[in-house]
Amino acid sequence: MGKLKVCGGNTLRGSLRVQGAKNSVLPILAASILVRGESLLRNCPNLKDVDAAIAILRYLGCQVTRDEGDVHIDSAAIVRRDIPDELMREMRSSVIFLGAILGRCGEAVLSMPGGCELGPRPINLHLDALRVLGAEIEEHGGNIICRAERLVGASVHLASPSVGATENAMLAAVSAVGETIITNAAREPEIVDLQNFLKAAGARIHGAGTPTITIQGGGMMRPVTHRIMPDRIVAATYLSAVAFAGGRLELEDIVPGHVTAVTDALRAAGCEITVREDNLQLVSTGRLRAISPVMTGPYPGFPTDAQPCLLTACVKSKGTTVFMENIFQNRYRYVEELRRMGADIKLEGRVAVVTGVERLTGAAVSAADLRGGAALVVAALGAAGETVISEAEHIDRGYDGIAETLGALGADVERTDDV
Ligand code: EPU
Repeated sequence: MGKLKVCGGNTLRGSLRVQGAKNSVLPILAASILVRGESLLRNCPNLKDVDAAIAILRYLGCQVTRDEGDVHIDSAAIVRRDIPDELMREMRSSVIFLGAILGRCGEAVLSMPGGCELGPRPINLHLDALRVLGAEIEEHGGNIICRAERLVGASVHLASPSVGATENAMLAAVSAVGETIITNAAREPEIVDLQNFLKAAGARIHGAGTPTITIQGGGMMRPVTHRIMPDRIVAATYLSAVAFAGGRLELEDIVPGHVTAVTDALRAAGCEITVREDNLQLVSTGRLRAISPVMTGPYPGFPTDAQPCLLTACVKSKGTTVFMENIFQNRYRYVEELRRMGADIKLEGRVAVVTGVERLTGAAVSAADLRGGAALVVAALGAAGETVISEAEHIDRGYDGIAETLGALGADVERTDDV
């Protein structure tokens, strides 16, 4: 089991280039199945979830090679249309392959992704969208079997703006005959990145980033080169870390507009933030003040994935801050670990009330999920003494070289896998 050992208290200083976005590269890897030929993806982060998606592509018959941040996929020959259970279990978001395999092969067989660390993860909205496009879906023995001799464009209204359901509907619709209009679509920047990839490959699609996406399906997808957008949640994590530990951070190669909800909150907490075109600077004394209630919501609302790190940045602030988690049921599992370090946090259902304390003290804690694990790293950086975070492999699912990145900023972080 992986561990991270952090000695807190160092001021953090420096600049870093933000990695490519996990939640953008995963659906785009799935989308590469629709290209009859080569896709070259640039700026791909080196993450466990990316390894899992590549393992699925190889199983399906794609030739995949990697060279640093470049991933080449040749999808000329797809020989399978199922994803075995062990590959599905590696990564919950493998359900994103459903629309793409169905579109390419006319049939897709996946095992049910089931729940995950964040609570139940239903896929009803994904399946409803595919049904509207003409898929017949059977669920038995823990498998989902999706078939469509011909997908036909249609009006797909999502009951709520699910990111994954929007992506699945887009991927199936580019292969459908005729026009699809997706309404109440998710507006996350990762949806726009997926649209940019599909467009570059010849798809006729517009509207991503708004609630209505229009797709003229049926065209052939041609070879494409695409650069993955920067990861806004990784940016939010490092901003929160420096806000909490104190210091100065320059983030390069980001889209500042993608993190406005986070920078607005950090500014209100007392950080100085300067925004330039693709660059953002934060200066913090490490002594923050409480802020107005933070409520997570679909983009452009406050991102649920940034909630654990921002909440952690508030645990030593002057006053009380209220958080309300509106997306996932089990987003507060890291709170118990923060309490072990001395934080004062009251939980009631989806609400967390954080009252600032004078200091946090290092402790032995455990990462229960990806973003909760990142929050423990943030906490450890601003705590007195040593923190050992076990089950750190959760963190590796989303952060490319977190120990090295923080080390370059002056933090004392060490990977101690065999402790
Ligand atoms: N939902 C349903 N039915 C569905 C789909 C979703 O009820 O068919 C519910 C979910 O249970 C949840 C809410 O709708 O309560 C939002 O889920 P959504 O489908 O938008 O999320 P997702 O596509 O499963 C992606 C990210 C998550 C991120 C969420 C919200 C990827 C691979 N994952 O998940 O990222 O938290 O959007 O922004 O894009 C992470 O990176 O740590 C992570 C969990």
